Amino acid sequence: MKNQIEIQKIIKPFKKQIIVSSDKSLSIRCILLSSIAIGRSKIFNLLKSDDVNNALMAVKKIGVSYKKKKNYLEINGVGINGFKIKKNTVLNAGNSGTLARCIIGLCSASKSNFKLIGDKSLSKRDFSRVIKPLNLFGVNIKSRNDMLPLEFKGSNLLRPINYTENKGSAQIKTCIIFSAINTPGVTKINAKKSRNHTELLLKYLKYPIKIKKNKTYDLIEVKGLRQFKSFDYTVPGDISSASFFIILTLLSKNSTLLIKNININQSRIGILKILNIMNANIKILNKRKYRGEDIGDIKIKSTKNLKSINCPEKLNSSAIDEFLLIFLIASKSKGISTFKNLYELNKKESPRLDIAIKFLKMVGIKVIRKNCDIKIFGNPSLKLKNKYQMKNFMKDHRVFMMTVIAALTLGGKWKINDKDSIKTSFPKFLKISKKLGAKIN
Ligand code: S3P
Repeated sequence: MKNQIEIQKIIKPFKKQIIVSSDKSLSIRCILLSSIAIGRSKIFNLLKSDDVNNALMAVKKIGVSYKKKKNYLEINGVGINGFKIKKNTVLNAGNSGTLARCIIGLCSASKSNFKLIGDKSLSKRDFSRVIKPLNLFGVNIKSRNDMLPLEFKGSNLLRPINYTENKGSAQIKTCIIFSAINTPGVTKINAKKSRNHTELLLKYLKYPIKIKKNKTYDLIEVKGLRQFKSFDYTVPGDISSASFFIILTLLSKNSTLLIKNININQSRIGILKILNIMNANIKILNKRKYRGEDIGDIKIKSTKNLKSINCPEKLNSSAIDEFLLIFLIASKSKGISTFKNLYELNKKESPRLDIAIKFLKMVGIKVIRKNCDIKIFGNPSLKLKNKYQMKNFMKDHRVFMMTVIAALTLGGKWKINDKDSIKTSFPKFLKISKKLGAKIN
């Protein structure tokens, strides 16, 4: 069947070094920020994926030109308020919540009408979380049930806002910061901690943004309408993509893996902190700083005695894209693992909490769910023998890749649908899996 793979457990131990795809969050932010910089930016090692292509097509539609060079992407920034948005322009964010929510912040000062659309999965996701703050800035948006398509009805003079972002969502935070850049005066955001790439990039660009870090929230102040210059940036590897192979190695026998050049920003490495509590054999080597971000190489060794975790809720946001994998490893660990308040997990490309629970039950793991809290009863000797088929997961790339890792480590004969979903974030995923010994038909 087209777009379906057949796959079984990896048998031989491996000792390898890999490079995974470039960071998606940083790739999209680099495109968006370089398009409002003054002058020509060069972005090296940009992620080649559908979400990133959609970002490029979107900025092109609003007057930003770019050239794909051999080793980098050259983007000709138009400055703040320099977009040329023609009446009734349609921006298509495809599958990407990050692109959708960030670009509308960037276009908040548009005088012309434009429309934001996306694919089937994105069209089921909630946009009230960004419509609300944008309305407060003075942006007029029409939608049905706060979902796509969103129709932007042209803004009057924007006014700065004071806003509390309490979901711990970097997409909402970035949308507000981008809109604040278009707005005269100072916007204040009290944001529950989430990935902080936007803030670090703006600081690197010497944009007037102030951040006061508190325990669970950051107070961010953004001065509007300050132009900034173009920049060069080399995007590091994505910890979210690396995580698939971290879990694969931990659950394989006698194997070692070195994953080079990964972004290990504190606001992204919840998974490493969680795995550390679970006893996983992981080391960070060659730690260095780059434009405010932390980068390092990750060395992983197979670990036999993994233990369960009572996952600290404060790690939820920094591990948000990795929970499917964390549940998988909890299933193979000794004891009962508990996770609390994972409401946001159901707000992703698919309802990941619901899908994960279905998946774990399918492979015979006991799970108890109460609202958005779950308990996973680990079984270190779990070995599968049956035939399994994975379909109907809304083509969610992370569900697909987690299922592949489960098949490669737990046993059983698997058929998994929608392999094309990896084009969203990690097109090289199956190629790297093969390099580590996976046989995929
Ligand atoms: C992202 C933020 C996260 C994450 C997504 C990428 C970003 O979403 O799940 O994959 O680049 O800002 P939320 O901010 O909505 O939690």
